[in-house]
Amino acid sequence: MKEGNAAVIGLQWGDEGKGKVIDTLSDSFDVVCRYQGGANAGHTIFHKGEKLSLHLVPSGIFRADKLSIIGNGVVIDITQLIKEIEELRAKGIEINNNLKISKRSHLILPSYFEEEKETKDKIGTTGRAIGPAYSNKILRKGVRMGDIFSPTYLDKFNLPPEYLKTIETFRKNYGHMVTDTVELIRQLLKEKKRIIFEGAQGVLLDIDFGTYPYVTSSNPTPGGILTGSGIPPNSISNIIGISKAYTTRVGKGPFPSRMEQETEELIRNSGKEFGATTGRPRDCGWLDLVALKFSCWISGITEIVLTKIDVLDGFSEIKIATAYEIDGEKQEHFPSEIWKLEKAKPIYKSLPGWNNTKSIKNYNDLSGEAKNFIKFIEDSTEVKIGYISTGVERGDLIRV
Ligand code: GDP
Ligand code: IMO
Ligand code: MG
Repeated sequence: MKEGNAAVIGLQWGDEGKGKVIDTLSDSFDVVCRYQGGANAGHTIFHKGEKLSLHLVPSGIFRADKLSIIGNGVVIDITQLIKEIEELRAKGIEINNNLKISKRSHLILPSYFEEEKETKDKIGTTGRAIGPAYSNKILRKGVRMGDIFSPTYLDKFNLPPEYLKTIETFRKNYGHMVTDTVELIRQLLKEKKRIIFEGAQGVLLDIDFGTYPYVTSSNPTPGGILTGSGIPPNSISNIIGISKAYTTRVGKGPFPSRMEQETEELIRNSGKEFGATTGRPRDCGWLDLVALKFSCWISGITEIVLTKIDVLDGFSEIKIATAYEIDGEKQEHFPSEIWKLEKAKPIYKSLPGWNNTKSIKNYNDLSGEAKNFIKFIEDSTEVKIGYISTGVERGDLIRV
């Protein structure tokens, strides 16, 4: 990895293991910053042997000396944020001046949950009112975090009294965390502090580049870092893409490389593929290089972290989608039209499988077959795999 700042970007449909990777890599950084999404994210971290899911609080929070920032591009449900902070505090995690929240971030208002009802079923959303929060922001009807300090300004929004009480509690107990994070980031960069940006969701869920309309309502791709934090465009030297050694998807929308049921169930059980936010079973499929190549390109990925290779242990054959067949024609680039993707049949390459990658920490301890799989991905994406994750714990990571 180069000196300077970094970003961690999910390259698939979310849940690639970003939380684990951030928790591990943040050791070398001073600041962890979320820039988009909201409590639709569920980032799992094993802390002292206990499994914890973070939704709004950045994944560096378990390291006492790191600063966490929730940037302006994040949409915040304050009830959820209070709950999350208090649950973490109850586990002995200190959260006080080490968490800063942007004054420009938008609040998720109670009425937004009602507004989401229709799309919740159509898209299979997480039910966290993310779509309405971003649409109200774009319609210029939103309430921003900085507005909670002016009761007279809030009067214009006709907010329900119970919600005004929640705002009041938040202002009293957590108001000191709310600040101008653009100015804060400017100062941190001047002091040569290193920032790592924590993406939520993944490239294929991006509102512009994902599988529209089966996407989220923000930009997980690196453009979202600039608009969602206020960092200047030339300040990020490492764009780290996270991909599972296979693929998962939760919610609705096409999934060309989905596995047949029996294999899917094996992977779902061994990979514990159940949503960290909603508990929904995730659909599982083989690695899709058509999609991965697109994700790496659109994000300018400088290195890949390949996660969950251990979940594929024990298969005699591993499949990788290298192209699609659409209406009888072979296609190697990822289609932009959903109605084309719905017709895509993957063309697979089969590679020999491997055993025993679980918790391996040295590249040389991997079998030839596992190394061959890694090389095949590197050659196709033209991006180096810099780390391989081999288990849920912080230390289960190979630095290649
Ligand atoms: P995120 O949303 O990208 O942070 O990912 P999630 O936390 O939603 O889902 C990833 C799941 O995989 C979590 O349960 C992690 O504990 C787990 N995980 C992450 N990396 C690995 C790995 O290398 N091997 C295994 N077996 N599990 C992993
Ligand atoms: P992390 O950060 C996986 C999916 C939902 C749905 C679509 C839109 O843990 O990787 P939304 O609630 O955002 O309007 O739902 O996006 N989705 C995710 N899938 N991981 C996530 O986050 C997701 N956040 C949203 O399932 O298909
Ligand atoms: Mg997740």
